[in-house]
Amino acid sequence: MQKAIGVLTSGGDAPGMNAAVRAVTRAAIRKDYRVIGIQRGYNGLLNGECIELNCRDVSDIIQRGGTILYTARCKEFIQEEYVKKAAEKCRELNMEGLVVIGGDGSFRGAADLSRIGGIRCVGLPGTIDNDIQCTEYTIGYDTAMNTALEMIDKIRDTSQSHDRCSVVEVMGRHAGWIALNVAMAAGAIACITPEMPYDINAIADKIIKAHEAQKEHFIVVVAEGVENSEGITKQLKELTGIETRLTVLGHVQRGGSPTVRDRVAASQMGYHAVELISRGATNRVVGLKDNKIIDVDIQEALAMKKPFDTELYRVCNEITF
Ligand code: F6P
Repeated sequence: MQKAIGVLTSGGDAPGMNAAVRAVTRAAIRKDYRVIGIQRGYNGLLNGECIELNCRDVSDIIQRGGTILYTARCKEFIQEEYVKKAAEKCRELNMEGLVVIGGDGSFRGAADLSRIGGIRCVGLPGTIDNDIQCTEYTIGYDTAMNTALEMIDKIRDTSQSHDRCSVVEVMGRHAGWIALNVAMAAGAIACITPEMPYDINAIADKIIKAHEAQKEHFIVVVAEGVENSEGITKQLKELTGIETRLTVLGHVQRGGSPTVRDRVAASQMGYHAVELISRGATNRVVGLKDNKIIDVDIQEALAMKKPFDTELYRVCNEITF
C-alpha cells in the first residue's frame, strides 16, 4: 500500500488551520503520499474517523475559518493504552507520519504517540493565544487579534456616545498576547494580563486623571487568564465613579476568515512539516523565529518559557493617558 501522511487538528480551533491542512495535503501529494485526514483530533484515530484527502478536497478552504477536519480535546490520550491504540490505527493506515495542528496539549499527545507508539509526529502551532514557547507566532493569532480589535472599535463608538468606561475581556487562557497587542492597537488606557502584576487603584487613578483632563471614555483590555474581569469592572466603577461596563468577546475571536499573515504562516508551516516527515524526522514542532521557519524537539519546545513582551507593555502604558 502507498505510504500515507496523516493530518489532524486538535484543541481549540484557530483561523488558518484549514490553510495548514491544505498545505500539508498538497505538499504530501506532491511527494507521492496518500493523505489521511483524521477527524475530531486524536478521537478520530481511536474511533476510526479517518478520510482520504485528495488535492481537490482541500480546494476552496484556504479562506475559511474553523477546521474542515473538526477538532476536539481527547481526554483519554493521557493514558498509554489509548496512545498505543492510536498508533495501531496509524500503522493500519500505513502512515509514514502524522501532522498535529494544535497547542501545547496536542503536542503532548504527539510526543507520546512518537515515544510510546513509534509514530513520526510533527506539530504545527495552531492556537489564537500565541502561547507556544518555541515559536514567535501561532496560526490564528493575527486573525483573532484583528477580530478583537474590530469588536473593540465598535464598543468604543458606543462608549464614546455614553461617556463610559468599557472593560473588554479578550481570550487567552494563560496568556496576555492578544490582550497586549489589541490594547495597544485600540489605544486602551490600561491592559491587564496574567504575566504582569496590576494595581487597580493605580489604573483607577490614571482614569480619574485623564477624566479631569477632558477624556470622557475609556477602554480597559483584560486577558481572560486574569480570571477577574467582573471584579475589575466593579472595582473600577466604584473607584472612578464612571459608568463602567464589561464585554466578554468570547468565541467570536476564534472564527472568521484568516488574515494574510495566518494563511501564509499556516501554508509555510504545513509545507515544512511534510518535508520533515519525508526526511525521517520525528517529534518536532515547527515554528517561526525572526520570520524564518524553524523546527525544534517537542519535549524541548514544551519545556521552554516564552518571555512576555514587557517593552510593548511599557510603551502601551506610557502613551495612553
Ligand atoms: O486556547 C484557545 C482558547 O480560545 C483560549 O483562549 C480559551 O481559553 C480556550 O481556548 C477556550 O476553549 P473552549 O473551546 O473550551 O471554550
